[in-house]
Amino acid sequence: MSDPELKDALEDRRILVTGGAGFIGSEVVRQLHELEANATVFDNFSSGKMEYIRGLHDVKVVKGDVCDHEIVSKTLRDQELVIHLAALPFIPDCYHHPEEFFRVNAMGSVNMMWESIRSETVERFVHVSSSEVYGTARYVPMDEEHPTRPNSTYAVSKLAADRAVFAMHKEHSFPAVIVRPFNSYGPNVTQPYIIPEIALQLLSANDSVQLGDVENSRDFTYVADTARGLIMALANKNAVGETINLGTGRGIKIRDLVFLMAGFLGRQVRIERDPTRLRPYDVERLLCDCAKARKILRWEPKVTLEEGLRKTIEWMVNNPIRFRGPFKGWYQSYYGKV
Ligand SMILES: NC(=O)c1ccc[n+]([C@@H]2O[C@H](COP(=O)([O-])OP(=O)(O)OC[C@H]3O[C@@H](n4cnc5c(N)ncnc54)[C@H](O)[C@@H]3O)[C@@H](O)[C@H]2O)c1
Repeated sequence: MSDPELKDALEDRRILVTGGAGFIGSEVVRQLHELEANATVFDNFSSGKMEYIRGLHDVKVVKGDVCDHEIVSKTLRDQELVIHLAALPFIPDCYHHPEEFFRVNAMGSVNMMWESIRSETVERFVHVSSSEVYGTARYVPMDEEHPTRPNSTYAVSKLAADRAVFAMHKEHSFPAVIVRPFNSYGPNVTQPYIIPEIALQLLSANDSVQLGDVENSRDFTYVADTARGLIMALANKNAVGETINLGTGRGIKIRDLVFLMAGFLGRQVRIERDPTRLRPYDVERLLCDCAKARKILRWEPKVTLEEGLRKTIEWMVNNPIRFRGPFKGWYQSYYGKV
């Protein structure tokens, strides 16, 4: 869909964005604001940041938990459309908090979907899933028919939510769409994902980068492209009932990513393998087939990896952030504020 078509579909519409203060969510809200939609952020600010949405006048903010029936039902009362992003997304945290991941990611999604159905005002619901539900690629590129064999309890909790949303869509003829983004990166990051982690290490003066498995490969999408895809799924009636992947179709090994990013900074670095950073039972490869997004949504990733990495590094240079103190291994990891 073109920008004018999106504006036509969404201008003045009341849109609730759960997780709207987060990394992808704040970009969704920024783009909705540009389209002159009437956006409300619903977030508990466990990782989301008010400063990521502060400049957007007219955007309303409700602080609350997606598992809280009362506040969710009250907030949904006058909403027409929902993009549900709120979740615990950082995989190493789920090694220690599997129940909490299920509570928020699975039960929170069931609550959001159920209260949306009960609201009788919500016309469409975009559920934000993840490529992690597929597990390691059995074939590439990975389309929506790829088997779902999630590795982490994070991914299992996301898949449980997907299945619940799909079942409730069928049971109640409720117009829901499931979108599965592959890895996203860009400014306004909230979690120590691999690209900000590499950037932080490169921006320190060290001549080595300490990482776990660098032979794994991922398909990275710039956050503005991911957000636009979610908004397109919301605006497009033909997407209802579908599951749609969002990714670029370009894979890169973490090792090559490090050298690419180091090159942008004019740095020569060594990669050192840090066994404490190895993720147990990690996904080895993800590579997206986005033909369905192209066909149904007319979505195309616009930002190349090189361009997006430059923008991300520039943002990190100008916005010095730290992730939860010095890294001490995933086994001391916990979820909390950046
Ligand atoms: N970043 C990626 O590469 C990626 C890839 C695929 C899917 N996703 C999915 O996209 C969504 C957003 O992820 P993100 O990377 O922007 O992470 P994020 O941590 O920045 O966003 C999650 C947001 O949800 C909020 N939140 C968490 N628990 C909540 C609760 N109980 N109630 C209300 N709000 C709550 C957080 O404060 C935060 O603003 C998640 O659903 C994630 O699973 C992310």
